[in-house]
Amino acid sequence: MRTPIIAGNWKLFKKCCDAQDFVAKLIPLVQKTSDVEIVIAPVFTVLSTVKQAIAGSNIKLSAQDCFWEEEGAFTGEISPGMLVDAGCSHVIIGHSERRQYFGETDETVNRKIKAAIAAGLTVLFCIGETLAERETDKTFEVLRTQVENGLAGLARDDLAKVVIAYEPVWAIGTGKTATDEQAQVAHAFIRKVVGELFTVQLAEAIRILYGGSVKPENVRGLMNQPDIDGALVGGASLKADSFGAIVNYKA
Ligand code: PGA
Repeated sequence: MRTPIIAGNWKLFKKCCDAQDFVAKLIPLVQKTSDVEIVIAPVFTVLSTVKQAIAGSNIKLSAQDCFWEEEGAFTGEISPGMLVDAGCSHVIIGHSERRQYFGETDETVNRKIKAAIAAGLTVLFCIGETLAERETDKTFEVLRTQVENGLAGLARDDLAKVVIAYEPVWAIGTGKTATDEQAQVAHAFIRKVVGELFTVQLAEAIRILYGGSVKPENVRGLMNQPDIDGALVGGASLKADSFGAIVNYKA
């Protein structure tokens, strides 16, 4: 049984007060939800505020990125061990916005994934094709390459600390969601590739989230697909009501 995960990626939004407000509103909405893992990913500067606000609740804390070195002369970077120290259990790595605007490559993503796992974090590893890639029938090729390169050199045991997030770039922040069928086909393919790289058993156990314009209105159809194990939510995670409704998609 794969426990579903609903993760909110706040991106570059919310300072301390907004974050505290959000958590205060979210807790009563989700405190009875026991069969879904709930994760929120604020900006670095409010991690410790959110850590205190979620204390004793069923909400977990994630960062949106990290560096691969633990310490050293790397101005501006944050290490996986520092995220653990700040209360994080999860970290998003390889988000398409990092790849698109900040020069992340499959290689840097791979280094970050390994370092994060070594520090004990669970990685939300993002992959996904662009519109041009989908329109030229390269979706499977792109996904295969991203999975192979991103997970290169990982041991079988490491896979328990990896969650894959399939986020078609054309669906992020555009209001355009992949159809339930499009998402299912991609997820089944990703699971097959993981099976080829590791074992079929590990592929069956790994959780694969869908991301890209997930909303309270479309989450149920996506979650009904056999290979979709949760959602990575951007825009709709910024309001406690809509995020709470997504978390409670079964209700
Ligand atoms: P969105 O973002 O839900 O606003 O499309 C998803 C993401 O980028 O993780």
